[in-house]
Amino acid sequence: MNFQLSEDHIAIRDAARDFAENEIASSAVERDITGDFPHEIIKKLGELGFMGMMVSPEYGGSGLDCVSYCIAMEEICKVDASVGVVMSVNNSLVCWGLETFGSDDIKDRILKPLASGQAIGAYCLSEPGVGSDATQQATTAVRDGNDWIINGAKNWITNGTTSDYYIVFAQTDATKKHKGVTAFIIEKGMAGFEMGKKEDKLGIRSSDTCSLSFNGVRVPDANRLGEEHNGFKIAMETLNGGRIGIASQALGIAVGAFEKAVKYSFERHAFGQPINQLQAIQFKIAEMATKIEAARLLIHRAARCKDNKESYIKEAAMAKLYASTIAFEVANEAIQIHGGYGYVREYLVERALRDAKITQIYEGTSEIQHIVIARQLLKEYALV
Ligand code: CAA
Repeated sequence: MNFQLSEDHIAIRDAARDFAENEIASSAVERDITGDFPHEIIKKLGELGFMGMMVSPEYGGSGLDCVSYCIAMEEICKVDASVGVVMSVNNSLVCWGLETFGSDDIKDRILKPLASGQAIGAYCLSEPGVGSDATQQATTAVRDGNDWIINGAKNWITNGTTSDYYIVFAQTDATKKHKGVTAFIIEKGMAGFEMGKKEDKLGIRSSDTCSLSFNGVRVPDANRLGEEHNGFKIAMETLNGGRIGIASQALGIAVGAFEKAVKYSFERHAFGQPINQLQAIQFKIAEMATKIEAARLLIHRAARCKDNKESYIKEAAMAKLYASTIAFEVANEAIQIHGGYGYVREYLVERALRDAKITQIYEGTSEIQHIVIARQLLKEYALV
């Protein structure tokens, strides 16, 4: 495995870093308070090619690899994980699925605006009564001529009120359980499609999360994504890539908190010296840095497996499990190093802790990642 970033990867890292520092940082605190969605920032990210990074240029994307996407996600989330999740969902949960499973018509009509940043997308799997146990989809789609009639509700939808296109998973044959699920694309403004109120969240407050309801929404068959009854497979395969994106988000949160803590450790004096001369602080810095490095290695390994078209189910789950765990721990230690100052908004590290928490929950909780990892491992060992 090559541990060095290529010149192209370094250029992407620098472009994302410049953008985050110059265009995102100044409004991050205010948006965390108000919960305002970063419309202008997302538009500019789209113009820079960050909203469809892995999509082929033929469909309006940047044609980059997954490692590039992880590097950009880390830099953006170092400054603002709310912006990061909008970018992550659009790239890996929406564009990837459309390019991989969509018809030519879907790629032309729907993927192009999403990948070029002119539109935003959402991925709708969770329901009011269905979270981790995702095989139990209660939303239904019934065929009516060349259309489908969709009824049901979805919960916790990132980009919920701001999206133009929604990938929605619905039961098309209840007797087949998860093998009777089909994926559809519902468009903003379709009759019977309603959005709930924006959730008031602990973290990633400036991203937009809401519930959705579908009351007899008529969707043309042309908006079916993939084969009938193949929807659960699409949902799971899409989430594998999504988990690499969320792992990168968690890594960015950790790095942002770590860098602030190290900077503060030079400025703050106690017992007649900068606090970073105290072994108690040095041990924390060493632990935090080691965890960050290990998380980055797991993430880049998973991304390289994806780029090389090798299996990456286990690798993505390990990267998400570990990066989300250490993001929370590193943010916590960053607050501890700051002492009382870390507990107030002004020093920026308390937001890292609040933002880190969700990475242990969405796109598969840490408990689900354990299940995915164990099942993959047991499959591998059974083959030996
Ligand atoms: N990749 C590919 N296929 C997978 C898979 C994966 N990671 N995980 C499961 N599958 C397949 C299985 O191979 C199986 O296929 P077959 O039926 O063809 O054999 C099928 O899915 C069902 O799996 P199981 O038989 O193992 O069913 P289960 O109920 O025991 O476990 C689960 C399924 C792994 C728990 C799955 O329901 C799951 O991943 N749950 C978590 C859902 C999740 O991550 N939700 C996040 C919501 S999206 C979100 O947060 C987005 C956002 O806005 C930020």
